[in-house]
Amino acid sequence: MTQAAPVRGEWASRAAVRIDEVDSTQNVARALADAGAPEGTVVWAEHQTGGRGRLGRPWTDEPGAALLISIILRPAAAFPRLPQISLLAGAAVAEAVREESGLPVALDWPNDLLLHGRKVAGILAESFTSRDGSATVILGIGFNVNQTRFPDDLAARATSLALETGRQFDREKLLKTLLLRLEGWYHRWGAEGFAPVREAWRQGSRTLGRRVTVEEGIRGIAVDLAEDGALIVQTDSGGTVRVLAGLAQGGDT
Ligand code: BTN
Repeated sequence: MTQAAPVRGEWASRAAVRIDEVDSTQNVARALADAGAPEGTVVWAEHQTGGRGRLGRPWTDEPGAALLISIILRPAAAFPRLPQISLLAGAAVAEAVREESGLPVALDWPNDLLLHGRKVAGILAESFTSRDGSATVILGIGFNVNQTRFPDDLAARATSLALETGRQFDREKLLKTLLLRLEGWYHRWGAEGFAPVREAWRQGSRTLGRRVTVEEGIRGIAVDLAEDGALIVQTDSGGTVRVLAGLAQGGDT
């Protein structure tokens, strides 16, 4: 296994902005970022009325059972590298799950976290460009922790740490571990580039070697993660394509 990233612990030691109910923590984090909140600021809600996932999908929750968080990032990296942030976040959350639960978590392209084939966490990265040309990324994580059941339409696809282990988890402790891992990987990515993240993602992925249907409707076998974070797919028609999971564009500030 690729070694855990070195840890600074600044994000975890700063108090999260806690909210009982909000439309989406992404919106609160964006407003805080616009007002100058520092990198690593965390917004945590107990319940979202308009939680959103990738590709415009809704993200629903059971109040008080999940980790619903958004983190403000101000990456110095060039724009083409920003999609790598959601891959490093997936690797970091996977590490936190392993550390806190010992469960065999797997990464599913681009950054879903699965336990025994069911989704336990998802990641949404939204980017904004400031007037000075710099980027802000709001990294949203929805993590199913203490749910003991899911609505019928989700039950076959979703799981939680509680369902997998039969016990409840301390969400504050989990958040702390997650932020330590995330901050560590983020700074390592800034200092060393994508290579260590790529290695961790490849080791933790269940996508490589499997059949995939990726966003653009391309079908084939996922053969590798490229050096820039693109998924390399050998298509059914015999060609090879590179698929980059883009960041959702949130517009300018
Ligand atoms: C996905 O799997 O499609 C990504 C889900 C991301 C959900 C989280 S919950 C906290 C944050 N606020 C949101 O509205 N979405 C993200």
